[in-house]
Amino acid sequence: MIQSICVIGAGTMGSGIALVAAQGGFVTTLFDVNATMLDKAATAIKANLDFLISKQKISALDASAIFSRINFISDIQHCKADLLIEAIIENAAAKIELFNKLAHVNDDNAIFASNTSSLSISTLQRSISHPERVVGMHFFNPAPVMKLVEVVKGEQTSNSVSQTVYDLCKQLNKTPVLCKDAPGFVVNRVARHYYLEAMKIVEQGIASIENVDAIMEATGFKMGPFKLMDLIGLDINLSVSQSLYDAFNNAERFKPAAMQIDKVAKGALGKKSGKGFYDYLN
Ligand SMILES: NC(=O)c1ccc[n+]([C@@H]2O[C@H](COP(=O)([O-])OP(=O)(O)OC[C@H]3O[C@@H](n4cnc5c(N)ncnc54)[C@H](O)[C@@H]3O)[C@@H](O)[C@H]2O)c1
Repeated sequence: MIQSICVIGAGTMGSGIALVAAQGGFVTTLFDVNATMLDKAATAIKANLDFLISKQKISALDASAIFSRINFISDIQHCKADLLIEAIIENAAAKIELFNKLAHVNDDNAIFASNTSSLSISTLQRSISHPERVVGMHFFNPAPVMKLVEVVKGEQTSNSVSQTVYDLCKQLNKTPVLCKDAPGFVVNRVARHYYLEAMKIVEQGIASIENVDAIMEATGFKMGPFKLMDLIGLDINLSVSQSLYDAFNNAERFKPAAMQIDKVAKGALGKKSGKGFYDYLN
């Protein structure tokens, strides 16, 4: 049974997932190697709770109880929990290294979940002790708002681990969907063309960024592709395209867009860096 949750990586996703865990009543630890990111996460979580108070969704007392359940930590030795959810950079070697460090700090039956958008859970678990405890737990952005969680079963993930994570998602008031490990899982594979085709349209001079977004929103999408990429983070979105491109043997349909590669190289990562396809006041 899960009683404590540790989230690793206090960026866009990790800060949201930690809030979801604390709202679910769990003792929650949020770890990052970068102290500035921990401060930013605390500010973002407080702002989120203030918003819920202003909408009368929770009381000030509830908000302070939720916030006090989160421990912000910068020492990996304190990353001990029944469930550890990593939300660090989208890089397989970094995730494997992290899980191996966490294996030294935790019991063999602690569950290791990855929030990866596109990396293979089966590949990750091959390099981690007790691979049966490794599972994909793919939240969507923003994690406190979006209900869907893809629970991804790798080749060696045990049924009891995927079931425990599935049940936990329900307890967290999310909508879990079990799926097999495959490049991009379901949502990111289908949605890839929303981003890639939109960038091709702009690169080919067919329509502007603003017009593509306006047209897609007018057809009923909640957010145009460029606004959505800015929210996701251009670096993260690019890594997902690259993973799918690699996994599908350089299939042209998943080829990363030059305009996105260029933005990422210049540090224009979207909302989180203040500049992406649009400019933001941070
Ligand atoms: N951004 C999205 O919309 C989205 C949606 C679903 C899943 N994801 C996935 O979630 C993960 C995180 O994405 P994000 O957008 O939150 O990234 P981010 O860049 O906003 O945050 C990553 C955080 O991880 C920290 N970090 C890096 N290496 C670390 C390490 N070894 N130990 C501890 N902390 C470390 C960084 O300091 C940073 O705070 C990625 O795997 C991504 O594919 C992202």
